[in-house]
Amino acid sequence: MNKNKVYIETYGCQMNLADTEVVMGILNNKGYELTKEIDSADVVFLNTCSVRDNAEQRIHGRLGTIGTLKQKNPNLVIGILGCMAERLREDLIDKQKMVDLVVGPDEYRRIPEFIDTAVAGEKGIGVKLSRTETYEDIEPYREEGLSAWISVMRGCDKFCTYCVVPFTRGRERSSKMESIVEEVRRLSEKGFREVTLLGQNVNSYSDGENDFADLLVACAEVDKNLRIRFTTSHPQDLSDKLLYAISEHDNLCNYIHLPVQSGSDRVLLEMNRTYTIEHYLGIIERARKIIPGVTFSTDIIAGFPTETEEEHKMTLDVMAKVRYDGAYMFKYSPREGTRAFKMADDVPEDVKSRRLTEIIDQQQKIAYEINQKLIGTEDIVLIENLSKKSDQFYSGRTGTNKIVILPVAENVQIGDYVKVKIYKATSATLFGEFLEITDVYKR
Ligand code: 5AD
Ligand code: SF4
Repeated sequence: MNKNKVYIETYGCQMNLADTEVVMGILNNKGYELTKEIDSADVVFLNTCSVRDNAEQRIHGRLGTIGTLKQKNPNLVIGILGCMAERLREDLIDKQKMVDLVVGPDEYRRIPEFIDTAVAGEKGIGVKLSRTETYEDIEPYREEGLSAWISVMRGCDKFCTYCVVPFTRGRERSSKMESIVEEVRRLSEKGFREVTLLGQNVNSYSDGENDFADLLVACAEVDKNLRIRFTTSHPQDLSDKLLYAISEHDNLCNYIHLPVQSGSDRVLLEMNRTYTIEHYLGIIERARKIIPGVTFSTDIIAGFPTETEEEHKMTLDVMAKVRYDGAYMFKYSPREGTRAFKMADDVPEDVKSRRLTEIIDQQQKIAYEINQKLIGTEDIVLIENLSKKSDQFYSGRTGTNKIVILPVAENVQIGDYVKVKIYKATSATLFGEFLEITDVYKR
């Protein structure tokens, strides 16, 4: 049977997108061809997410559609990778007969072997978690582009009580700083203009000798014209050293994704988030002092078990105090195996929905106000693409992670850093006029 063409669909967070590139790197080394067309594939993988139930439901739905492909082509190999593979294991194969292999996040090296097993008619399961696997020796398969991800640490040791990640991705471990810096250098040489360092808790990075601030500085110094981003940061590990590193390097982006989750100390304690709101607001204040113009985004969970109306208002209150530039906002979703799963999911669905709507509405209003104030200011934008709505406009992003639309201009190309002046703003988008191409990234 032909096993040449592999198609991968990715769900969930940026870590998963980065993992897909690692999987493609592994398969590419073994001579597999990668395809973007599912109909021409011999092997179809879904790299999955378990963080909330609706993510899993969507993937189950997609599996149903893919099952019909297998009816047409019984030789098609179907595999589930990632967090759902880790969480559901054999159940996936028992319940979804068309699934041939199930591979968790730390066993991707064995995928070629599992494909052979599947081709021979056997099911393959690899769901062992590792304390050491970082894939740091594997060159991810990347398309030509401007922006690349590097996952610098894997796993999570924080055990927030709602979160399945410590169970699906295992313990924290970091790649060696030298190997990351080397990869940044390769990306710079290939013409990439931006790199995002990824980890579930990226700022608790430690390779035994270097902490996350050391890593950021080392990456920033590779190429002053290459912008460095990072996500996700945990408030517990956000040191002043890290803040100074950002403030002292123009190519380290002035943007921190710092999930708060709730505005109530009691709920935070139930969530095992290890900080109070006072401590959290203290970090935001210090960051704003040390890095003028820094922007923040957050994650919020509405309707965690036992959350009262008053505690929900505290969440709205902390959002109003911080004034986030962006937020990812979710309804609480019970996840089997977590500590919160043992608590009654006692906030009724309609109350959760209403609280979430209030949170989203308020966030939109704040983002609109923040963006309005940017009218008349100048910033530097990396031009990423033509705008989705019109080929007369480019779409780019500021260091503070805001999308900017600007007219296509002669001499300006995708991949350029340009200085723009903002003349219009909505809650999600800024509109700028082109001022000049900037050779060196300089805020
Ligand atoms: N229910 C709702 N949201 C969750 N998150 C993680 N687990 C859950 C859950 N069980 C959210 C958190 C986290 C983001 C990645 O997903 O806000 O920061
Ligand atoms: Fe999940 Fe908390 Fe770890 Fe984030 S820090 S991955 S929310 S356990």
